[in-house]
Amino acid sequence: MKWRVDFFVTPLRAGLAALAVAGGVLAFGWSGLFSVAATSGHWPITDWFLHYVMINSVKTHSLTVETQKNLDDPALIARGAGHYASGCASCHGAPGRPRNPVIREMVPTAPDLDAKVQTWEPKHLFWIVKNGVKYAGMPAWVSAEEREDEVWSVVAFLLKLPGMSDETYRRLAMGDENDGAVGALTALAHRAQGRGPREDVLADCARCHGRDGMGRDGDAFPVIAGQNEDYIYDALAAYALNKRKSGIMETAAARLPYSDLAALAEHYAAQPRKPIEGAKPLDPALVARGEKIAREGLRDTGTPACSSCHGPDGRARNPAYPKLAGQHASYLETQLKLWETEHDSRGGGPFAGIMRKIAFGMTEADIKAVAAYYASLPPGE
Ligand code: HEC
Ligand code: HEC
Ligand code: HEC
Repeated sequence: MKWRVDFFVTPLRAGLAALAVAGGVLAFGWSGLFSVAATSGHWPITDWFLHYVMINSVKTHSLTVETQKNLDDPALIARGAGHYASGCASCHGAPGRPRNPVIREMVPTAPDLDAKVQTWEPKHLFWIVKNGVKYAGMPAWVSAEEREDEVWSVVAFLLKLPGMSDETYRRLAMGDENDGAVGALTALAHRAQGRGPREDVLADCARCHGRDGMGRDGDAFPVIAGQNEDYIYDALAAYALNKRKSGIMETAAARLPYSDLAALAEHYAAQPRKPIEGAKPLDPALVARGEKIAREGLRDTGTPACSSCHGPDGRARNPAYPKLAGQHASYLETQLKLWETEHDSRGGGPFAGIMRKIAFGMTEADIKAVAAYYASLPPGE
């Protein structure tokens, strides 16, 4: 005799089945039987599936990313390397600096990027570094929406990472500083040193800005030597409080107490501001156009003369305003463009609202010209 079971899927039955599955999953979660222990890792199939989802998600979401052109610029690479040492190497390791054993116990772990980089295109790397990876412990960029330019500097560095020697990395990320020295100073030596910023703190700033505040690698870092002390302090405090947007500088400033910020401002303000070595020649016509804007402002947009606040010689009339003379043109240009964006990607200290109004509405050509003019002025003391 044959058994026949007639089974029709009706909306009611399908609904009940879905409810039963959901209930089962909830009961399993509630029971606590699932182990979240990192010691056991993922099953190979789970690991494969999570990476499959991640890789496809990155590729789809970066479809509209337009790859920046100057990724071979040595200044961009040096800027990215400087940040990599403070913002990424603690998890991913770096040439000559293996990952910390604690990191290797993360699930998923932060991989050694040397081999991984080559599996991605630049726009994929940009998307990962900007957005981070959910459920994986890979953080998003600090001030990601405002500072895509900084994210590209890290991508420029990552593209050079495969096979990079220990020595090349050390120079790119540390400049003239020796990372072994950071934190190695004894209390006795510190007391003997007397006033001034703490040695390990200054050594970190000096990786990028140098101890003399003149920076390194072309226009990788702004000149801060001889800058007004009040302005430096306000800028550092603004970075620390996320009021001035920069994933690179917010990382550097946020971990320090205000007493250190004050000591650093005093130190860098006291350094002589020198002409930039090997600066690229500036177009005289551009400089002349910039000078006119700086002295007279722009009638069409109601832009005031820059010299009314930044001084006829670019040395600033108020100690809380920055000196512009002898600064890198590319840096000045970037700052003005950040203010010019719709949602103010620059921010800044207590008086930054003034500059926001001034920069807003300036054309790219005017910004370029006025930046070239201030870069051309002798730095003075
Ligand atoms: C707190 C630790 C941590 C920090 C800090 C960190 N990452 Fe990651 N990163 C991870 C983890 C974990 C993954 C693995 C994600 C995965 O497997 O899905 C990852 C993945 C990546 C990947 C993709 C690698 C691949 O192919 O699987 C890149 C690229 C990357 N990180 C770059 C960076 C950069 C650049 C920085 C600094 C700006 C950085 N990460 C900072 C933890 C970190
Ligand atoms: C990883 C490299 C790096 C480190 C480390 C670093 N800086 Fe910077 N600094 C930069 C970059 C890049 C900028 C430009 C940021 C921007 O666009 O706002 C900058 C900007 C600044 C500015 C603003 C300049 C201006 O004209 O407004 C000051 C002041 C400054 N840094 C001081 C410091 C001090 C003090 C330290 C140590 C606590 C430090 N920086 C550590 C890279 C670095
Ligand atoms: C009414 C006063 C005033 C006028 C006029 C003015 N500025 Fe400023 N400027 C400021 C102040 C204040 C800051 C500091 C903002 C901050 O970061 O907190 C500043 C900052 C800047 C910076 C950033 C410098 C750095 O080191 O990051 C640039 C670039 C700049 N101004 C260019 C100009 C130009 C170009 C003009 C003319 C078109 C101009 N400013 C007119 C007050 C002024």
